[in-house]
Amino acid sequence: MNVEGKRDNVILIGFMGSGKSTTGISLSYKLQRTLADTDKMIERQEGRSISEIFAEEGEACFREKETELLEKLKSGSGGQIFSVGGGTPLREENRRLLKELGTVIYLEVSPETVWTRLKGDTTRPLLQGDDPMRKIRTLLEEREELYRDAADIIIPVDGKKPAQVVDEIVKKLKQREGAI
Ligand code: S3P
Repeated sequence: MNVEGKRDNVILIGFMGSGKSTTGISLSYKLQRTLADTDKMIERQEGRSISEIFAEEGEACFREKETELLEKLKSGSGGQIFSVGGGTPLREENRRLLKELGTVIYLEVSPETVWTRLKGDTTRPLLQGDDPMRKIRTLLEEREELYRDAADIIIPVDGKKPAQVVDEIVKKLKQREGAI
């Protein structure tokens, strides 16, 4: 536990395409900590992809699995990095669980950057269909406040290389006594 009574994990949140996975990998090297991606954990646990879970049981069921997983992670040993799905902070309960789990870092991204990175992606069920750019804009608008509410640290990522994002994160973590 650190000075704020949080566990000493670092959690990356942010919209799809904000770079949580890439940043998580670099950060894990830099801090010499293990990285766990909650989407991948859910896929492993279920033996099927996120797209299959959405198609077979719906988004609400997937959200339930996200909350259950956060509950489980709380009993972990700490000292880890977690990258969580873009929709995890939507539930108030999840925002509380994330804060209990550790220091929450929001990677803030613009719709244009998301579009550049995820054009043609078929693995995100929420961005499929006729007008993905409109979906990106709408979802980001709906979520921005919630991401901010969940975050301890906000890092704008547009136009930055992963190494720069990681350096900024490490600097901010060091400024927060006991966060790392
Ligand atoms: C989602 C983001 C995805 C995944 C699912 C739903 C969302 O994760 O959890 O497709 O609601 O934003 P990434 O943010 O890792 O793409």
